Amino acid sequence: MAINQELRFKGGLPDYLIRHTTFRQMQIFEAIVRLSSFTKAAEELFLTQPTVSTQFKKLSEALDIPLLDQSARQLKPTEAGQELYQTICKIFNSLAELDTHIAELKGLRRGRLRLSVITTAKHFAPEILGSFAREYPGVDLSLEVCNRERIFERIQNNLDDLYILGQPPSKELSLEAHLFAPNPLVVIAARDHELCKESNISIARLAQEPLLVREPGSGIRNTSMKVFTEHDVTPNIRMELGSNEAIKHAVVGGLGVAILSLHTLSLEGVNGPIEVLDVEGFPIKRKWFLVHQKNKKLSSITNAFIEFALAEEPVIRERMAKLYDQFIQRRKKRKQNS
Ligand code: PGA
Repeated sequence: MAINQELRFKGGLPDYLIRHTTFRQMQIFEAIVRLSSFTKAAEELFLTQPTVSTQFKKLSEALDIPLLDQSARQLKPTEAGQELYQTICKIFNSLAELDTHIAELKGLRRGRLRLSVITTAKHFAPEILGSFAREYPGVDLSLEVCNRERIFERIQNNLDDLYILGQPPSKELSLEAHLFAPNPLVVIAARDHELCKESNISIARLAQEPLLVREPGSGIRNTSMKVFTEHDVTPNIRMELGSNEAIKHAVVGGLGVAILSLHTLSLEGVNGPIEVLDVEGFPIKRKWFLVHQKNKKLSSITNAFIEFALAEEPVIRERMAKLYDQFIQRRKKRKQNS
């Protein structure tokens, strides 16, 4: 039913929407769009699928315009749906900030911290969050692990308090970045690979090996490709894989060598089936960036986390240095024994 435009506003407020829509409907719509699925939205919100469908229908009727394009294989918001989705993100974000500020006014070390990190940062961010949670047990924590495209979408929709990126953010996004722990890139191979015995392997020699690379847009991939370009050689890309874990398994399976962050080896260390090769110019010394919106008023929990994470920096730096040294020592031993 189309609603007369004059009846939609009262006292400058969207009276019609206030009366005919609910936060619950918006929460359901947000989940449907984010997960591209009614079933997954129902699961996440512990609702039945008919409830999700009914609430979505009521919301569409209240707005009197189609919100989802269900004709394609993947469910997508229409232009109006996308507009609504972004508005809901803003409303919920303001509510989360209100919740945190009220907790602060009550003098509680409580509130919410939403962190989104780029794929490879999942190899250390949860540990920092774990230590932080022990110190601030009343804080509700959430961690999203996303690829670069998705993380920039989240930044634009202001969905999180903080982000961890492997490349400095672009100037247009108006972000503030704190340089954080080291993110060294190394060349890895299976332990029985012939290059494990060699020293100071040239980039030209590396370029002859079948190379396993991350998906386009990955920070590691971008940096790796630059190395080959700078040396004027073309890498022999054998396969593209969307995760560090898949690459490690493919390396162990003998499909090729790869350039990855040393963080991806931190759990198994030198005891795993992977060797770090001695390649000229490696490890490439990169850093992580802890990032937030420039003009955003940060909650005291967010500030506390930034301080906490920066204080963890020497621990992570030392862990990386030690791990790298263990690989060098093992390489030396191997040479002595051969
Ligand atoms: P990636 O980013 O996981 O997207 O490769 C991390 C990095 O830039 O090192």
